[in-house]
Amino acid sequence: MLEANHSPNDQSAPVPRHVAIIMDGNGRWAARRHLPRKLGHKAGVEAVRRIVREAGDLGVEYLTLYGFSSENWKRPPEEVSDLMDLLRFFIRRDLAELHQNGVQVRIIGDRAGLDADIVALIDEAETLTRANSRMKLLVAFNYGGQNEIASAMRRIADKVKAGEIEPETVTPETVEAHLDTAGIPSPDVVIRTSGEKRLSNFLIWQSAYAELVFTDVFWPDFGREHLEAAFREYQSRERRFGGR
Ligand code: IPE
Ligand code: IPE
Ligand code: MG
Repeated sequence: MLEANHSPNDQSAPVPRHVAIIMDGNGRWAARRHLPRKLGHKAGVEAVRRIVREAGDLGVEYLTLYGFSSENWKRPPEEVSDLMDLLRFFIRRDLAELHQNGVQVRIIGDRAGLDADIVALIDEAETLTRANSRMKLLVAFNYGGQNEIASAMRRIADKVKAGEIEPETVTPETVEAHLDTAGIPSPDVVIRTSGEKRLSNFLIWQSAYAELVFTDVFWPDFGREHLEAAFREYQSRERRFGGR
C-alpha cells in the first residue's frame, strides 16, 4: 500500500494535491474500433470509474474531471443527449460506491442549462457526500472557464452596487472566492489526453500556475500507469511561481 501523497517510485516526491483532467479522445477511440461515438463515451465513463479509484489510492486530495464543456452544445443533438444520459448513468450507478469510499462529489458549471432531473441528481450526489473527506471529486459539467469568470464578475458587480464591496478592494482573492471552485486549492497539474494541446476553456483562471501534461493516450485507454507517468512528469518539473 502506498503512503498517501507520495508517489510509488519516489517516497520524497509528493503526488499532486489537485489533479485536473481534460478527458479527451472518446470519439477517436471509438472511430479506431469502427464503433459509434456513443460507445467511446461509454468507455470513457469506465475510465472515470477507474481513475477516481486510482487517484484516491495514490493520495490525490482533489480530482477535477472535465465532462462536458459549455461549447459541447455545438455537437449534434444525439451526441449531446448521449452525454447527458451518461452523466445520469454515472451518478445513478456509482454514487453509492463513491459515497462508501469516502468521496465527496461536487459539480461545477452552469446548472441553469441542464434538465431538471439532472440537476436533481447532482443535488442528491452533493448532499449525500457532503461530509466525506477521503477525496474530493469535482465534475465540470456544462462548464466553461470564461462563463465562470463572467458570472463571478456579475456577482462582484452586484455587491459593489449594493455597497458591500469597494471596487478598489477587489483582488484576485475576491475573484477566486466567487468562482465555482471557491475554497478549493488551484490544480497542481492539468492532464489532457488524446494529443490535443489546449485548455479548451477548462479552469483557465485556476490553472495560471498548473503544470500541463499532455499524453497521446485516448481517454478510454487511460489507466493507472498513465496517471503515474503524468505524476512522474509533474514531479520532474521545477515549479517557480514567478520566483527564481
Ligand atoms: C471527450 O471526447 C469527451 C467530451 C468532449 C465530452 P471527444 O468526444 O471530444 O472525443 P474526440 O476528441 O472527438 O476524439
Ligand atoms: C474538451 O474537449 C471538453 C471536454 C473534455 C469535456 P473537446 O473535445 O470538446 O475540445 P476541443 O473542441 O477539441 O477544443
Ligand atoms: Mg475532443
